[in-house]
Amino acid sequence: MTPGTALLVGGSSEIGMAVLVRLLGPVPRRVILAGRPSSELWWNAEKLRDAGYSVSTTQYDAGLDADELDGMLEHACAEDRLELAIVAVGSMASKSFADGVVVNGLAVSVLLRALVHRKPAQIVVLSSAAAVRPRQSIAAYSLGKQLADSAAVLLARETAGTGVRVLVVRPGFVTTRMTADLPKPPLATSPERVAGRVAAAVEARKTIVWVPGVMGLVVRAVDLVPRRLLPETWR
Ligand SMILES: NC(=O)c1ccc[n+]([C@@H]2O[C@H](COP(=O)([O-])OP(=O)(O)OC[C@H]3O[C@@H](n4cnc5c(N)ncnc54)[C@H](OP(=O)(O)O)[C@@H]3O)[C@@H](O)[C@H]2O)c1
Repeated sequence: MTPGTALLVGGSSEIGMAVLVRLLGPVPRRVILAGRPSSELWWNAEKLRDAGYSVSTTQYDAGLDADELDGMLEHACAEDRLELAIVAVGSMASKSFADGVVVNGLAVSVLLRALVHRKPAQIVVLSSAAAVRPRQSIAAYSLGKQLADSAAVLLARETAGTGVRVLVVRPGFVTTRMTADLPKPPLATSPERVAGRVAAAVEARKTIVWVPGVMGLVVRAVDLVPRRLLPETWR
């Protein structure tokens, strides 16, 4: 990947940070972490500075409207063109059903469109297996992910051949703070494994990548099983 600004939206995300580190390439390079102020965000910024990158942070909240988003991106990319954008925003602990759909879905969809206008060479979107097989126990999250995933797939088609590539990442269970309180299922994976699969998919110019690779088949197979035979959390 050639130099240019790299942006991680969801700058405190564990998976987002692993993917960013994997795709960044050598220093010097300008990196922007966008997110709500938190110790995790500052920690990630410090880690990248220690590695020699030129890092700044900017505020991103899922409540930003389209104009505010444009303003944030305009300011963030004022010094250099945007080359790489990673979107790792997501929450399974939203205040309400509506908030869950907005944070995981609507806000990400609007953000993706704003990012495409900046013409980065690569956009990476953290979707989820739940976008393809929604689950009752995480209904708002699943619906939001379905919306964001569809928005990303449509943008990938729309931008084909324009120099902007969109990669949709569909992990199953990844061990991060988001899933810390949940029982670890079979096929659970790590942020570093997600990052490895993403790097290979970017290299291969793919539009969709499942993590682990077998997850796409598993999701479709589980869909064939009568719901009453599935454990509660899989329905
Ligand atoms: N962990 C998994 O099993 C798994 C599986 C499939 C897909 N994913 C997806 O992978 C991405 C990264 O997840 P992760 O596991 O790395 O979890 P994480 O560390 O909790 O990252 C989630 C990110 O979303 C941000 N976020 C949440 N609500 C927000 C809001 N209202 N406004 C702005 N930012 C908000 C968080 O910021 P704050 O620190 O400010 O909350 C954080 O940066 C997410 O899109 C997630 O849905 C995760």
